[in-house]
Amino acid sequence: MTNPSSQVVRAVCPGSFDPITRGHLDIIGRAAAVFSEIVVAIGRNTTKNYMFDLDERIRLCQDAIADLPNVRVAVIEGLLVDFCRQQDARVIVKGVRFGSDFDYELQMSQLNRQLSGIETVLLPAGREFGTISSSLLREVAYNGGDISPFVTDAVNQAVLAKVGR
Ligand code: PNS
Repeated sequence: MTNPSSQVVRAVCPGSFDPITRGHLDIIGRAAAVFSEIVVAIGRNTTKNYMFDLDERIRLCQDAIADLPNVRVAVIEGLLVDFCRQQDARVIVKGVRFGSDFDYELQMSQLNRQLSGIETVLLPAGREFGTISSSLLREVAYNGGDISPFVTDAVNQAVLAKVGR
């Protein structure tokens, strides 16, 4: 399929964002430079226990992307592929940090394509904060460490409040 440069291509960056990190923001910002519009899509991964409830994750994501004009935040209700169809998005964008991410993303991208025909674009993680994860940062914060280099000020404050500091 051809894609004249005048054509709007909306992409979805899905994730749990519990909380959003500078690694996520690197992927979102780079995707926003390639695609016309980005929808940061907050999903519920049924295998995870979240630190932040959905409203908190929405608020922290909205704050973090506030300076990116072609990016907005929405919630995935049900399947990601149905959300993409509702949003008229043609592409899913995910970041890949290392081999185990690739194995997981390959499986999901193939399944999503079989379910709906939607394509997934995998972006290699950036070098500076690319290999961090929300779960590792939560672990560091719970144990008294400083996560401020890896998240926005608002996220850092929210995490400190959660861990009682
Ligand atoms: O950051 P995460 O936890 O890896 O994000 C996973 C998420 C939310 C993107 C994924 O669980 C998802 O897409 N959930 C929506 C339900 C769905 O479509 N599941 C099938 C994926 S093949």
